[in-house]
Amino acid sequence: MKSPRLVLCESPETLAVEVAAFVVRCAREAVEQRGRFTLVLSGGTTPEKLHLALAEPARRDSIAWSETYVFFGDERFVPPDDPRSNFGMAQRTLLSHVPTPASHVFPISTDGPTAAAAADRYAAQLARFFPQEAAGGRPPCFDLILLGLGDDGHTASLFPGTPALQVEDAWATWSRPGWLPPPVDRITLTYPVLNAARHVAFLVTGNRKAVALRDVLENGAGRDLRPAAGVRPSEGTLAWFVDWQAAELLSHKEPSRA
Ligand code: 6PG
Repeated sequence: MKSPRLVLCESPETLAVEVAAFVVRCAREAVEQRGRFTLVLSGGTTPEKLHLALAEPARRDSIAWSETYVFFGDERFVPPDDPRSNFGMAQRTLLSHVPTPASHVFPISTDGPTAAAAADRYAAQLARFFPQEAAGGRPPCFDLILLGLGDDGHTASLFPGTPALQVEDAWATWSRPGWLPPPVDRITLTYPVLNAARHVAFLVTGNRKAVALRDVLENGAGRDLRPAAGVRPSEGTLAWFVDWQAAELLSHKEPSRA
């Protein structure tokens, strides 16, 4: 695994701009080299500023949205019009502002009977998009996976001490909620998929994340306690975009450019 990069940003606003520039670079690289850009969006609230930055005309027009394919790292088991829906948030803050064809957006469908069924359905959808990987028994290689960090160190919907952390034979699984809201079942990508990505970028802001971030980056916390620690791309790059508040407990703060 390549050593992670820590990108320190003054504020959530400058972090959004830094990450947006990184997304543009990853998109350009992917389209130039492979003719398409596969992007996995994170849920939660932190990505909202990033989405709005990407939707700004100058950046929006720097991405080949007709060659971009949008997926989700996790989803709450709620309808898409529920205010807690990660797809709904992405739709409001990004997808309704950029010219990505609807056929290029792959929401995690939550209209089935259970989160477990939704996870199976999502995994099948991914297998149809990545048929060679599915046939070869290897995880898909997304060009860029964006992730957040929960106060408890979770990422996507991989919560501390849950069975989803152990899933190695499926691309998506389901989880009971962690102790953080919202208290609804989840669907999440699994570690094999997260760790097969070409690029992984965490977006972390606010001092509520400071303890979990220090545990992951400096205290060698295990993934059962701090699931974000389990994101260690085997060949891809890993960047932590953090603002000063989230970084306040870190002892090593050599900032690097994105
Ligand atoms: C979700 C996210 C989750 C999120 C973290 C951080 O569905 O909630 O995927 O992993 O990234 O909980 O959330 P905030 O950005 O709201 O702090």
